[in-house]
Amino acid sequence: MNVNGKHYRTIWVDQEDPESIEIIDQRLLPHRFETVKLQTVEQAHKAIRDMLVRGAGLIGATAGYGMYLASLSAGSKAIHNDLREAGSFLKSARPTARNLAWAVDRILAKVGHLDSSTEIRKTALTAANLIADEDAQFCRQIGEHGRSLIEAISSKKAHKRVNILTHCNAGWLAFVDYGSATAPIYAARDAGIDLHVWVDETRPWNQGAKLTCWELQQEGISHTLITDNAGGHLMQHGEVDMVIVGSDRTTYTGDVANKIGTYLKALAAKDNQVPFYVALPSSTFDWSLDRGAAIPIEMRSGDEITSITGQTKSGTIETIRIAPESVVAANYGFDVTPARLVSALITERGIVKADKTAIRKMFPEKNSDKL
Ligand code: MRU
Repeated sequence: MNVNGKHYRTIWVDQEDPESIEIIDQRLLPHRFETVKLQTVEQAHKAIRDMLVRGAGLIGATAGYGMYLASLSAGSKAIHNDLREAGSFLKSARPTARNLAWAVDRILAKVGHLDSSTEIRKTALTAANLIADEDAQFCRQIGEHGRSLIEAISSKKAHKRVNILTHCNAGWLAFVDYGSATAPIYAARDAGIDLHVWVDETRPWNQGAKLTCWELQQEGISHTLITDNAGGHLMQHGEVDMVIVGSDRTTYTGDVANKIGTYLKALAAKDNQVPFYVALPSSTFDWSLDRGAAIPIEMRSGDEITSITGQTKSGTIETIRIAPESVVAANYGFDVTPARLVSALITERGIVKADKTAIRKMFPEKNSDKL
């Protein structure tokens, strides 16, 4: 998507030095746009853990390139062992997003039968590039499918403008390009549909205020920042036509883990007959889990709740404390919205009911004994 009119992806191989991977340091947005080079698996792990990169799709793509970086430094004799260790290390960076383990396992499977370290490195890079390209392509397809839902609402409205509420950032910054929840918005905009987005600020990390607003601003999409608690009120007053959120992990039965607070939006949407859609690429499905309660929920530092980070008038980025010094804070990163509250899932293959049978029909090759 665009940054000051120039197209960027969120991760790419440095053209001048193919042993370096470039990312955008998302901790500095929207105040500064700075890129960072990753040259080791340790740096890739740190970038995921410390949230220079975040969002399910981008975490997966970074893990893919992290495995490629690991292959560059792995000893040629024990390369398979080194790669397995690098994979476990990367997987430990964050627990909830399914795409992380999915990407690591995909690279391991691709190189598993190879002997020559040169071949392994080449194959790891090709596979990492494919993960990134597919992520962008799948998000573009999610956009096309999701657009039809927005179009349908617009055609029924006297004033045509469609008000969409989103939570957190499931935009292009959370993926390689386009985003999941935002892809239908961009596709609808391109089709000339009048729309407006309510952006939940998404405490404590404020991905909505910092990232989604910045993205939508760069793309010229009309939007309004709201507090996390405002959505229910807006729905009661007919100001929300639909909700579209992303997902960090979705079970094959349709339960959806997404940024903390998503469940409350789904409850409010149900109570107000507002359709609640979840946009996700198939890499976010967990084909081994049959219930949301089994999804690991990340606990992050309480400092993210007791403090807040932003830019001062003089231009420095600072963190200030907002809660009493000794307060105990529990920082749950995600929650699970049960399938019964989800109107439908928007995937790269189309729109599917959030239930086991429908999901199985759409992804028949993923069937396992458990399905
Ligand atoms: O903690 P984050 O920023 O990595 O969380 C991810 C998110 O932004 C959301 O949960 C998002 O809606 C789904 S990720 C595509």
